[in-house]
Amino acid sequence: MARTRFAVGIALVCAAAIAAAIVFAWPPEIEKVTPPAPDSFDRYRVAEGEDLARLGNCAGCHTSDPSRPLAGGRALPTPFGTVFATNITPHPDDGIGAWSREAFGRAMRRGVARDGTHLYPAFPYDHFTRTTDQQLDALYAWLMTRRPIAGSAPQTKLDGVAGWRPAMAGWNLVFLREGAIADDPSQTPQWNRGRALVAGLAHCSSCHTPRDRFGAEDRSRRFDGAEIEGWYAPPLNASSPAVRPWTVDELYTYLRTGLGPRHAAAAGPMGGVTRALAQVPEDDVRAIAVYVASLMAAAPAALQDSPEPIDRLADAARAHPEGATLFAGACATCHEQGAPMMQQGRPHLAWGTPLHTDNARNTVAIIMKGLASPAGATGPTMPAYADMLDDRQVQELAAYLRTRFTDKPPWSDVQAAVTEVRQGEPK
Ligand code: HEC
Ligand code: HEC
Ligand code: HEC
Repeated sequence: MARTRFAVGIALVCAAAIAAAIVFAWPPEIEKVTPPAPDSFDRYRVAEGEDLARLGNCAGCHTSDPSRPLAGGRALPTPFGTVFATNITPHPDDGIGAWSREAFGRAMRRGVARDGTHLYPAFPYDHFTRTTDQQLDALYAWLMTRRPIAGSAPQTKLDGVAGWRPAMAGWNLVFLREGAIADDPSQTPQWNRGRALVAGLAHCSSCHTPRDRFGAEDRSRRFDGAEIEGWYAPPLNASSPAVRPWTVDELYTYLRTGLGPRHAAAAGPMGGVTRALAQVPEDDVRAIAVYVASLMAAAPAALQDSPEPIDRLADAARAHPEGATLFAGACATCHEQGAPMMQQGRPHLAWGTPLHTDNARNTVAIIMKGLASPAGATGPTMPAYADMLDDRQVQELAAYLRTRFTDKPPWSDVQAAVTEVRQGEPK
């Protein structure tokens, strides 16, 4: 008797587990709606949504062709394969025009599309889950009042288990923490606001935190620096390799203009982040700066500034004569002390973090790809040298810069970094 009751018990538990698995792995479809009329949304709400969309840099990922804003198609490389950002214009068939506010909210907070399909965390819903109802109302209003654009993004097909979208239910169960984070009462309201933005819409740690083999951010190494799209997003915590302090004011200027006067310009994917932040309300960027400065409060540069730039000209010329010649020919007109660009108050090369990180990735990428103009700056910008210099010349230059402007050991990955940038070049 007891035995059969036990067996029935087990069967019930199993059935419940299977039912739960089905509910998680195959969430229900949410009914289509007729796209809401743009004038049904409050103008103020729409404007608020526009600011939030910039904070979240929605356009940065969802636009591949600037003449088709938010129509998707951009390829995001992941270790599991390429994920394509989708069309999030209000087009009823190809975009999210038929999505209700509820369907939109479920996607943003739980990573499930309107039809019940699981989305991949290349879409940072593990951060967007921190948004408030009011923020989602505003974002929805903004998206639904954009120009509908036809055309869908290429299909995403990932390798292995990741290729089976229902598996993401398991990922969510283990890694997704839904909802807002509670304020820390020992901190100021501005700090808490900054943290909420950084952890939520601005999703800063999605690039700056290393990921584990499941593609989830490693919580024990938050802001410890990570590779992203062929670049390196450096640590933003006590391990920051920056040589000058990231004060609140310096961070504010950097995030808003793309140029830190005592550091360097924001390169690669960070350039896009700063161009979006240039257009959000000042208070938000200030709050982000307050919080991020606190993360780096125990970093070496915060404890001791080095206002005198390192310049080991003779050592570098001896160790890398070819690099020295190339630098004198191609780079000195802008970067040497006394050059007109330097007289405009541009930062010394020794102050930029790219030369001080443990890997050569960003220095090599900057030399080969150049920099886009920072949002707030006029004047010269950094040209791309990929077509003018061969691989060995880039290596020589990188090694020369490292020896001349830092007191750190030579990089061991310069060659690999050059090869990688070459292979990643758009065809
Ligand atoms: C880091 C890149 C990135 C950013 C930033 C980003 N998205 Fe996405 N988003 C994606 C990708 C990639 C997908 C598709 C995921 C998939 O196919 O599983 C996606 C999917 C979506 C979807 C589901 C659409 C569908 O057709 O299934 C919505 C809604 C969405 N994003 C809204 C937003 C909004 C709103 C913002 C800004 C607040 C934003 N995204 C910012 C990468 C991004
Ligand atoms: C899409 C990826 C990505 C996102 C999102 C991102 N970053 Fe970055 N970040 C980078 C990369 C790559 C670099 C290195 C760029 C360089 O060296 O010029 C960087 C550099 C930085 C630096 C300069 C650090 C140093 O010592 O030079 C700061 C500060 C920074 N990011 C803050 C932020 C903040 C704050 C956010 C969120 C608002 C953010 N980042 C979001 C990729 C990203
Ligand atoms: C036309 C002017 C110009 C020329 C020529 C030029 N650069 Fe730059 N470079 C810039 C500007 C502008 C920046 C962005 C401001 C900054 O970060 O200091 C920059 C930034 C950099 C950075 C990132 C900042 C840092 O401190 O790490 C590196 C590295 C760099 N340049 C290396 C070179 C090398 C090597 C050459 C020669 C092959 C070169 N540049 C030629 C204008 C130039």
